[in-house]
Amino acid sequence: MTVPVERRTPSAAAIAAATAAAGVPVPRDRPRRLRRSPALRALVRETRLDPSMLVAPLFVRPGRALREPIASMPGVERLSPDEAVAEAQRLAGLGVGGIILFGLPSEKDPIGTGAWIEDGIVQEATRRIRAADVPIVLIADTCLCEYTDHGHCGPIMADGTVDNDAAIERLAIAAVSQAQAGADIVAPSAMMDGQVGAIRHALDAAGHRDTAIMAYASKTASAFYGPFREAADSAPAFGDRRSYQMDPANGREALREMRLDVDEGADMLLVKPALPCLDLVAAARTTFDIPVAAYQVSGEYAMIRAAADRGWLDGRRVMLEAITSIVRAGAGIVLTYAAADIATWLREDR
Ligand code: PBG
Repeated sequence: MTVPVERRTPSAAAIAAATAAAGVPVPRDRPRRLRRSPALRALVRETRLDPSMLVAPLFVRPGRALREPIASMPGVERLSPDEAVAEAQRLAGLGVGGIILFGLPSEKDPIGTGAWIEDGIVQEATRRIRAADVPIVLIADTCLCEYTDHGHCGPIMADGTVDNDAAIERLAIAAVSQAQAGADIVAPSAMMDGQVGAIRHALDAAGHRDTAIMAYASKTASAFYGPFREAADSAPAFGDRRSYQMDPANGREALREMRLDVDEGADMLLVKPALPCLDLVAAARTTFDIPVAAYQVSGEYAMIRAAADRGWLDGRRVMLEAITSIVRAGAGIVLTYAAADIATWLREDR
């Protein structure tokens, strides 16, 4: 196109005349037609959020009437079992679909006994929430790192590495005791090889055939878990988790992990963290036909909250955009610390 170069800015009419003369085509396709009004945008919206697809993580600790703030996760608290019942009731009232329980035991030891004992903190909270008949799906996170004094996800061998096969035995016992306490779903997150198969076998053997497994199939050794480890006091005392959690660089390996978990009997797949792994969420959705969940982890939540609290971002809009992106990528279930906020906003926006 040959728009004449002039010394002064040409008038709009001069530009229109010059572009018409040059034969610049008028757009044939106008996607903007469907963006003209809020009503049109709502009509053609492809991804809709509903509180029933959200799962709220709860940190439970021993005691009564306790709500303990977590510095790096504003708005999230450690709850005693009675407060966990109240929180579950509040979430159910907001229409939130599920809760996932993480435990802070009164004592930790090298093998993580607190994870599977009958009066463990998650078991107790689970029983209390069940007894209160709260209409919400009850998920128990199945791992040992919150219960071991060294903070790793399984017992440590003489050479300092985590003993995979000893870990999966313990995880299986933990899952059975969580099912016994009333969990609808157990969610193994230790990234031990064979953990899903071991848990399925143990659940079936103990008569818990209907307890489902949500496998943290693709879980990377992510720096985004920092605030969670403060909340659960579960940072490894030595080393890191890179010999069992996945290298964030590996997408094909993530699919292999998912396939193994499906073959071992997983009922649902979980991808974690969420926003850094949207490609894996999408791959999980197209490759498998069971429900896919994604975990917007503590660091993802903390970043948004921190920027919002400084006035640098609109926290509500950014949070809704992040969750919408996770769902658009293929997740039908989202674990998020903002579940109550989101459920509230969705009601207000209705
Ligand atoms: C337990 C577990 C962790 C998270 C979920 N389950 C911690 C870890 O792997 O270090 C992290 C969740 C979050 O950051 O919100 N293994």
